[in-house]
Amino acid sequence: MTISFLKSLLSHQPVLQHEQKILSPDSRIECVFKLRNGEAFYSVKKDGKLIVRDSCLGLNLQGEAPLKMNLSLVRHRENKVDESWECIVGEERLIRNNYNEAIFYLTETLKEKGAEPRLMTLRFRVFNEGVAFRYEVPPQPKFQRLIIKEELTEFNLDTNGGAWKIPAYQPDRYEYNYERTPIYNLVDAIHTPTAIETPDGFYVAIHEAALYNYGAMNLKLNIKGRLQADITPLSDGMKAYVSLPFNTPWRVLMIGNAPIELITNRMVLNLNDPPRDDFSWVRPIKFIGIWWAMFVGEWTWASGDRHGATTEHMIEYIDAARRLDIQGVLAEGWNNGWDGDWLQNGATTDFLHPMPDFDIEKVSQYAYEQGIEIVGHHETVGFVDNYELQLEEAYKYYTDHHINYIKSGYAGSRMTINGRKEFHHSQVGVNHYQKTVELAAKYHIHLDIHEPIKGTGIERTFPNLLTREGARGQEYEGGALSPSHCTIIPFTRLLAGGMDYTSGIFDITNGAKRLASTLARQVAYYVTIYSGMQMAADRPRFYEEVNPEVYEFIRNVPVIWERTVPLLGKIGEYYVVARLSRDQTTWFIGGVTNDQAHRVHLNLDFLEEAAIYYAEIYRDADNAHFRDNPLKIAIEAKRVTSSDFLDIWMAPGGGFAVRLRKL
Ligand code: NOJ
Repeated sequence: MTISFLKSLLSHQPVLQHEQKILSPDSRIECVFKLRNGEAFYSVKKDGKLIVRDSCLGLNLQGEAPLKMNLSLVRHRENKVDESWECIVGEERLIRNNYNEAIFYLTETLKEKGAEPRLMTLRFRVFNEGVAFRYEVPPQPKFQRLIIKEELTEFNLDTNGGAWKIPAYQPDRYEYNYERTPIYNLVDAIHTPTAIETPDGFYVAIHEAALYNYGAMNLKLNIKGRLQADITPLSDGMKAYVSLPFNTPWRVLMIGNAPIELITNRMVLNLNDPPRDDFSWVRPIKFIGIWWAMFVGEWTWASGDRHGATTEHMIEYIDAARRLDIQGVLAEGWNNGWDGDWLQNGATTDFLHPMPDFDIEKVSQYAYEQGIEIVGHHETVGFVDNYELQLEEAYKYYTDHHINYIKSGYAGSRMTINGRKEFHHSQVGVNHYQKTVELAAKYHIHLDIHEPIKGTGIERTFPNLLTREGARGQEYEGGALSPSHCTIIPFTRLLAGGMDYTSGIFDITNGAKRLASTLARQVAYYVTIYSGMQMAADRPRFYEEVNPEVYEFIRNVPVIWERTVPLLGKIGEYYVVARLSRDQTTWFIGGVTNDQAHRVHLNLDFLEEAAIYYAEIYRDADNAHFRDNPLKIAIEAKRVTSSDFLDIWMAPGGGFAVRLRKL
């Protein structure tokens, strides 16, 4: 902000009372900004019904008076935006960004003479799909740095609403089962995105967008009994150290009249900046890997007789990838650091030296010749200090070996940063993940981050961040995951972006890892769970020898999409979505249910009119059940048009997948 602009702001007569409506482009959502006796509030209505009651805004600062009281409005500005942009990698190629914006420039009215009033801006954007706002603190003469002690943002929803939540500040980060709880019970912090069903029947997902240089936002009830932003602290208890100008992440309320309206809510991506560079080199891939064999105990990450990541196994997997039309092969346990208790090895893990039986020159050369990408692996165990010392060299080492994809990992309950134990979701954690994304972009490396910071849409700006984990995935199967999980995450975790769920396990009845899923459901996941890198997570023999006809679905399913059309969904019960391939020739439908059987009657009116489609249906056979008959699958084919319906039965813990090719 220039000094002359600053002066022009201050030349207006500030007002202590102000009230202003900001309507969504379709006028159905109304956000009201209020300044009452120097304090700022907002409220939100949809279709005339109050969803968010008056909610406080402000920041508590360390060593300074809070930016909360004695605020007065200097002036405000309004903008209208309606544009579309092309999403290089994602669930939709063209994304519409349509909102009305109001910017409120505030200053403090000070009683003490001679004191310098501080400035703060509140920027609101109201979309047809919800409301977003953020704090912006411009540079100002006597105020150049801030230590944020608390963010005072409230989300004052009716506390009888039910929230699907996972707990924050727990050792396994975001990896918990979702539960539905009335808001009035949220005395302990929960993560976002959370989806809330209001007593009036609206569905509101609270999340954040463009999380940079700040602690991640959790939510919990404050002393007034209202939901409030709870920013993940640093080890010294502060929330963020920033210099000005500074913007907080966007606070986002996605609002739908039905759960499936949340699915295509693109506010989070729209609130992020376009790519800063040329990312036309980014390529989404499917990959197999030296991975599940470790989970079922056939191979090990550690060295020894059953070591998984050997030269020989990699060559076998590269050959299998070619036969399976898979573009990449992951190698976990390739480097020094896995022997003994690997969770304790973070301080010495070495990202520059393979184990003796992994000939990286030979493996990478062979993969290169075969046109197969190696997905490298960096398990840091959260020991950021050790990782950052090697980071750039480790990226260079990989690119020197034609390795352009990295799965990274941050297992453990805390990170070690500057010698301190910090939350993964704290400001320093956020900054570390960001450093890896930006440096990877410099080296044209794609990332799949496990134990990540949650998605806040930054992959719009950095499309090389192809996917993340950040929720319980398939590795929790074997008792810890209930079949309802996959009917909840589309409305919660997946609103934050793609997830590497590690789908496609066909060896469902393996005693070492018994899945709560049917076989048909394993292929449904490729449609219901978006990920810019999709793993076909089982061992190749299960695709080539045991169930080759089911594998055909994985062979043919794309990774990124032209369009996404959610068809049916009830959070925790069932979910069905259709997606169109980027070449616009083929639709795919995926459906999943919880532990109850569910029959769906699908209207195919999203298909091109008058066209005939050849539908291949992979569904649970009539007597399938995730507990005692998970492998029974029926594969059928028929011709359909847009005026047809598909009736499909899903077994308890089951699902289905359909491929519809235009003839
Ligand atoms: C946890 C990750 O989620 C998993 O995929 C990986 O195999 C292990 N960490 C080891 O890095």
